[in-house]
Amino acid sequence: MEGASLHPAVLLLVGLLLSRAGSSPPPEPVNCTRGTSDCTVTNVYGSFPDRTICRAANATYPRTEEELVAAVAAAAAAKRKVKVATRTSHSFPKLACPGGRDGTIISTERLNRSVSIDAASGLMTVESGMVLRDLIQAAGAAGLALPHSPYWYGLTIGGLLATGAHGSSLWGKGSAVHEYVVGMRIVTPAPASQGFAIVRELGADDPDLDAAKVSLGVLGVVSQVTLALQPLFKRSVTFVERDDSDFAEQVAVWGDLHEFGDMAWLPRQGKVIYREDDRVDVSAPGDGLNDYLGFRSNPTLGLIIARAAEERLEEDGDDTARCLAARLPAAAFELQAYGFTNDGSFFTGYPVVGYQHRIQASGTCINGEEDGLLTSCPWDPRIRSPFFYNSGFSVALSKAPAFIADIQKLRDLDPRALCSLDAKLGVLIRYVKASSAYLGKTEDSVDFDITYYRSYTEGAPRAHADVLDELEQLALRKYDAIPHWGKNRNFAFDGAIAKYPMAGEFLKVKDKYDPDGIFSSEWSDQVLGINGNPNIIDKGCAIEGLCICSDDLHCAPEKGLFCRPGKVYVEARVCASQPVSDSASQDHHDEL
Ligand SMILES: Cc1cc2nc3c(=O)[nH]c(=O)nc-3n(C[C@H](O)[C@H](O)[C@H](O)COP(=O)(O)OP(=O)(O)OC[C@H]3O[C@@H](n4cnc5c(N)ncnc54)[C@H](O)[C@@H]3O)c2cc1C
Ligand SMILES: *[C@@H]1O[C@H](CO)[C@@H](O)[C@H](O)[C@H]1NC(C)=O
Ligand SMILES: *[C@@H]1O[C@H](CO)[C@@H](O)[C@H](O)[C@H]1NC(C)=O
Ligand SMILES: *[C@@H]1O[C@H](CO)[C@@H](O)[C@H](O)[C@H]1NC(C)=O
Repeated sequence: MEGASLHPAVLLLVGLLLSRAGSSPPPEPVNCTRGTSDCTVTNVYGSFPDRTICRAANATYPRTEEELVAAVAAAAAAKRKVKVATRTSHSFPKLACPGGRDGTIISTERLNRSVSIDAASGLMTVESGMVLRDLIQAAGAAGLALPHSPYWYGLTIGGLLATGAHGSSLWGKGSAVHEYVVGMRIVTPAPASQGFAIVRELGADDPDLDAAKVSLGVLGVVSQVTLALQPLFKRSVTFVERDDSDFAEQVAVWGDLHEFGDMAWLPRQGKVIYREDDRVDVSAPGDGLNDYLGFRSNPTLGLIIARAAEERLEEDGDDTARCLAARLPAAAFELQAYGFTNDGSFFTGYPVVGYQHRIQASGTCINGEEDGLLTSCPWDPRIRSPFFYNSGFSVALSKAPAFIADIQKLRDLDPRALCSLDAKLGVLIRYVKASSAYLGKTEDSVDFDITYYRSYTEGAPRAHADVLDELEQLALRKYDAIPHWGKNRNFAFDGAIAKYPMAGEFLKVKDKYDPDGIFSSEWSDQVLGINGNPNIIDKGCAIEGLCICSDDLHCAPEKGLFCRPGKVYVEARVCASQPVSDSASQDHHDEL
């Protein structure tokens, strides 16, 4: 009881104060038990959405493009399945798995150098395994800026491009990193006459670049990426909190008002934290730093206690206890200005003005020395730490106000059902522009990002899971949202490829580059509509997000959860308690 009243956020904050120094780096996603053979591959959470890990016969760690070509040639000559793995492996879905169980992993871990950087032209060429942190730091040191990026810098340039990763902007070319790619070198299989592998150099005008920029890793191994950077600039950031009564209208205009604007919506509390974030001249005073609280290192002990408290609330708590606890994280983050400081040490007030490379992304938990797991990133799988789902989906800008109005309707039926979102700092809402990339956004879009509790126990129902499931189906089915390639549970990808009018062009390039499909896996074939379907239809599959239920067995009838229509979006099918017909007949029975 006492433990349950100590909220995870409080513990995390205590931890944050204690632990500014170290942090064990995240574990290696590729784990080979005999040298470089007999390997397992997973993501940084140690668990794919279907709770499996995958296997590979062996792994190679090329240091140069020549070694990379040799690795691809060896796989191609043997028609062996192969897949790129990164040091970071932050994608949730099963993207990092080679097909079958006997494939080869090519790791980009040692392809992490900057190749060239030219301040005059603004062009920077890097190897594909370079970590975003190092890339933006090197750019900044040369007086240049990557204008947009994901908010977390523990990703590689090759991996984040492959999944279409982005920040938030409707200005200029928008927030997706691939909009700034003007060249790539990609190693693909080739006929024996060409030595089984070739380097294809794609310039800015090469139409294949629209396939290679966002490729899900199925075209070959990206060796190098050339980015068109901008002269270094500064940004001015202010967070403003308002109630959400006019939120549906605001979402349509906020992206026009502020170049880097975003919003965090706390649906239960009815609040929106608007990020007013604009470009200012480099001469503007200020040396602000974004060291986002959620991406800092934590004492392992604090994480374990926080998780235990979260589990108790989830399993034994009621709505009142959960919703009370859910208020704390956002309040605590607001108090500490989310981890922003005006000078790298202290927060003295908004606006925070600072250089782009110090503001655009953060992730200090990856920076520490190994300390025997005394401290780690908040999601380290080697400890029983917070474990969560992350869904991200983009709705066309023109449809976003109606989508928000529908979520508000859903919320108003039972506001406490959405406390789980408030508990994870709300719905993050960002802007992404339409892209020429075949697997990029098809329209100017509003991206909705939600994080929520995941049980370590397979098949364990979550409190009010039906409402979040309805929200996701509302987005994907009624509002035709497209899922982020690097996030989401399986069911979100069902039918996704049909929403890309240029998918056929993408598959043509794939057939040209990799006719034997050695870079394709079961998962990539399923999401690209080549073979099978990303759903895993089985008992309890809807509880795990592996399917949308069409039968009570896909839920947990033995625990009182049945496949039911949604409340606002009646076409939705969610696992909810008490089928109406049964309870009606039960009532009838009682009357008798
Ligand atoms: C804390 C956190 C914050 C995040 N923030 C954001 C955000 O703000 N915005 C956003 O859009 N996303 C965000 N993401 C999602 C993230 O951008 C994607 O999951 C990203 O793809 C992960 O990059 P990675 O380098 O770890 O790639 P991985 O997950 O390892 O790989 C992704 C895919 O790319 C392929 N690949 C990697 N390198 C190459 C290469 N050189 N050649 C060919 N194929 C390759 C892999 O085979 C795999 O299929 C976040 C994720 C986390 C965990
Ligand atoms: C690697 O795999 C071995 C054998 O399965 C296991 O004992 C070890 O803990 C794993 N290491 C990591 C870092 O996951
Ligand atoms: C990887 O394993 C395959 C199949 O066992 C083998 O043919 C190949 O030579 C191995 N490659 C390396 C680099 O060890
Ligand atoms: C590349 O990675 C190695 C460790 O694998 C690291 O020591 C080195 O600093 C990295 N290089 C760059 C440029 O980041």
